[in-house]
This record gives sequence, C-alpha cells and structure tokens, in this order.
Amino acid sequence: MTTQAKIDAAARLINGAKKIAVLTGAGVSKESGVPTFRDALEGLWARYDPQELATPQAFQRNPKLVWDWYEFRRKMVRKAKPNPGHVALTEIQKRKPDTWIITQNVDDLHEQAGSQNVIHLHGNIASTKCSADCCGKPTLIDLDALPDTLKWDAEKQPPPCPYCGAYARPDVVWFGEVLPADALSHAHDLSVACDVMIVVGTSGLVTPAANLPHYAKRAGAMVVEVNPDHSMISPIADLRLEAPSGQALPRVVERLN
Ligand code: OAD
Repeated sequence: MTTQAKIDAAARLINGAKKIAVLTGAGVSKESGVPTFRDALEGLWARYDPQELATPQAFQRNPKLVWDWYEFRRKMVRKAKPNPGHVALTEIQKRKPDTWIITQNVDDLHEQAGSQNVIHLHGNIASTKCSADCCGKPTLIDLDALPDTLKWDAEKQPPPCPYCGAYARPDVVWFGEVLPADALSHAHDLSVACDVMIVVGTSGLVTPAANLPHYAKRAGAMVVEVNPDHSMISPIADLRLEAPSGQALPRVVERLN
C-alpha cells in the first residue's frame, strides 16, 4: 500500500504546479469494471488476442467478428460508471484549472465524471465511422439515424455506411493506424509545458502515447505514477503511488490545499 508520506508528497507537487498533464490508461477504468487491455477478457472473447482483433487486417478478414467484439466492449462500457479515481481527477482539475487529461482509453468515463479538457488519443468506442472515411476523416455515422431504406444482414456483416455502403467501424485507433494528428500534437505540447505529469494506469507499452511521460520528464516536469504494478514508465517516475487509482487519488485530493 502507498505510504501517507508519498500521498502527501504527491499533493505537494500538485499544489505547487501551475500546469498539470495527466496521462491515463486502462488501469484508471479497471475499478469501474472495464477490463484493462491486456487482461484476459472473460467469456466468449477470452480465446482471442485483442491485438488480433484491433487491427485493420482483422477487420478486412472478418468485419463481423471485429464489429461484434466492439459491440461486446461497448455494452460493457455503457454499463460502467466513473470510479473514485475518475472523480478525484475531476476534483484536481477544479482545484488546478490548468490541468488536461490525455487518455488512451476509448471509454468516456472521464467525461462522465465531469472532467473537462480531455484529449482522446485512441478514439472513442461510443462513436462509429465509415471504414472508408468517404466524406472526410472521420466520417461519423449515427447508427440511431440510419435511413429505413438501408438494408443489411445484421447476422453476417456490420451496418453499411449510409453515404457509400462501405462497412461501418468503431471510431477507435487500431494497431498500425495513426493517431488523430491534432490530439497527438496537442498532447505533446501539454507534455513538454507541464510542471507535473501524473501517469495513471498504463503499462506504458504502446507508443506514441507512452512517449509523452518521457517528453515531460526531459522538459523538466516531475512525473508521478499511480499504478499498483511496475510499468515501463516506473523507471522515470519521481514518485510512485503503488496502489489502485481509485484508492490512491482520492487520498491525494484529501491533502490538497
Ligand atoms: P494495459 O492493459 O496495457 O495496462 C494497464 C495498466 O493499468 C497496467 O500497468 C496495470 O498494472 C494498471 N492497473 C491495473 N489496475 C489498476 C488500477 N486499479 N489503478 C491503476 N492502475 C491499474 O492498458 P494500457 O496501458 O492503457 O491501444 O494500454 C495502452 C494501449 O494498448 C491501449 O490504449 C490500447 C492497447 O493497445 C489501442 O487500442 C490503440
């Protein structure tokens, strides 16, 4: 468990900071019941490797399987609620308004917890787009407003794009795809300008998101990691709260001015 001294030290760093950048990963949503990316997903999907499903090639090979996997994850995310870790980050933003949250997560639990200034590097599982981006990047599709004339075999394929007929797909970044350029450049600018970067619940395995704490450190920021386990970010962390974020972050907020 994390000592009170470390909690107090984290609070002092936040109190003294002008600009704070928070990088979150799947760990911050774990206590909301959303499995982390590298957890074995229980049930039907346990036999698939997510890295085999979240790729353009997998979608090309079997669009229905990939579509169903994301429907399964969407249902899980829809049932999820923000946990005390999300709420604590919103509270930090209230005390320190120049705090941005850069998330790798595709759920909207930061927003549901009332956080502002949230940047999604890997997209948003709740939104759907045309797999051909036929009307621009991204061509978003409202599944609830598809024309009645549009027919497809829901047993065999994802819904078609109402504009061009290509398959619809989740508006998330797949392995091998580029991240939204404006989100990434904004996240980079925030990382090199912040005084403190709080890294919550990420293994730090997937770049370019995982590079951000290194940029922050190199630019002189203090790096605070919140993660019960060791990660690729741990070696550069100035302070590690080795506990679940839903437990550690509320304790830090209690000690803020
Ligand atoms: P991972 O599943 O790789 O790592 C989750 C991290 O959260 C691990 O380091 C855990 O130790 C930690 N963790 C678990 N429970 C926690 C808790 N209660 N509080 C805090 N931390 C906890 O997930 P990510 O690092 O987010 O990319 O994965 C990064 C990216 O890899 C994902 O965005 C996804 C995946 O490929 C795309 O989909 C493009």
